[in-house]
Amino acid sequence: MFNFPNTRLRRRRSSEWIRNLTSENTLSVNDLIFPLFVHDQKKTTVPISGLPDVKCYSMDGLISIVKEAKDLGINAVAIFPVVDSKLKSENAEEAYNSENLICRAICAIKSKVPEIGVIADVALDPYTTHGHDGILKNSQVSNDETVLLLCKQALVLAKAGCNIVAPSDMMDGRIGAIRKVLDNNDFQNVSILSYAVKYCSHFYAPFRQVVGSCGPSSSIDKSGYQMDYGNIHEAICEIEMDINEGADFIMIKPGMPYLDVIKTASENFNFPIFAYQVSGEYAMIKAAANNGWLNYNKVIYESLISFKRAGTSAIFTYAALDVARNMACV
Ligand code: PBG
Repeated sequence: MFNFPNTRLRRRRSSEWIRNLTSENTLSVNDLIFPLFVHDQKKTTVPISGLPDVKCYSMDGLISIVKEAKDLGINAVAIFPVVDSKLKSENAEEAYNSENLICRAICAIKSKVPEIGVIADVALDPYTTHGHDGILKNSQVSNDETVLLLCKQALVLAKAGCNIVAPSDMMDGRIGAIRKVLDNNDFQNVSILSYAVKYCSHFYAPFRQVVGSCGPSSSIDKSGYQMDYGNIHEAICEIEMDINEGADFIMIKPGMPYLDVIKTASENFNFPIFAYQVSGEYAMIKAAANNGWLNYNKVIYESLISFKRAGTSAIFTYAALDVARNMACV
């Protein structure tokens, strides 16, 4: 069909204007979701050692960074609590305390920057002493008992004003259960972003360091509930079940090493697919850039375009603010 010299593909690469007119995928600030860590230390915003240039914010610091994100056009933030170890327990009671750090953070954002979307994780790992996403019974994470607690957690998040609850725990049946509890409590308008396809990945290591969920031996094993990274048919099954149970958006995670999964999901479902460029992915790029081996802004942009090419609607990335700032400068 295409034969040289009648077809010369270089003709359409010959100047910027024609490259722009024929470009297939672009990135805009509308694609970005900014993950943020918050802790309960009054005035201090501190750097995070495994995630260069990412910070853990005080409540005041959180509000100013969220304002800046909104002013640059970012539509939503995903907030993660760094819970004081004194408040962690075997059964994660703090997770469904309506006065807990994350609920206070949601309330603060919704009163000071009401137009920005707020997303919060539903999972017990920031609150358990053992670091698992659920509660343990005979050293195994107990599915159905955990789901009951996740429902309570989702409800306090919704009451605090959260727009999207995001179950990232990988228990079976939690989407249906959470949808039901939200609906029964008049939260029909709170959406569910299901981390339907969450692989048992080693790329989460910096995140676990921050929230302190590495477990006592620092090598927590979540393979009893997170997906085997060799599998892809199973991903389709997970997505189908979560859509049937009432998910509004589907998350695939990690991102860059799983672009094939994102592509397969976007081709199989007429449904918004989100993806997470997780802590380890960001850390790799940032570390190389800080050593002078890669150009941070250019590599981040290229990496995010790969998500779009694969069919992602929105991308969680720790680089969201940097990307938005660069876009605002152009
Ligand atoms: C917890 C959770 C994790 C991440 C988001 N929510 C880690 C885990 O499952 O242990 C990882 C995000 C990242 O690495 O940036 N349920």
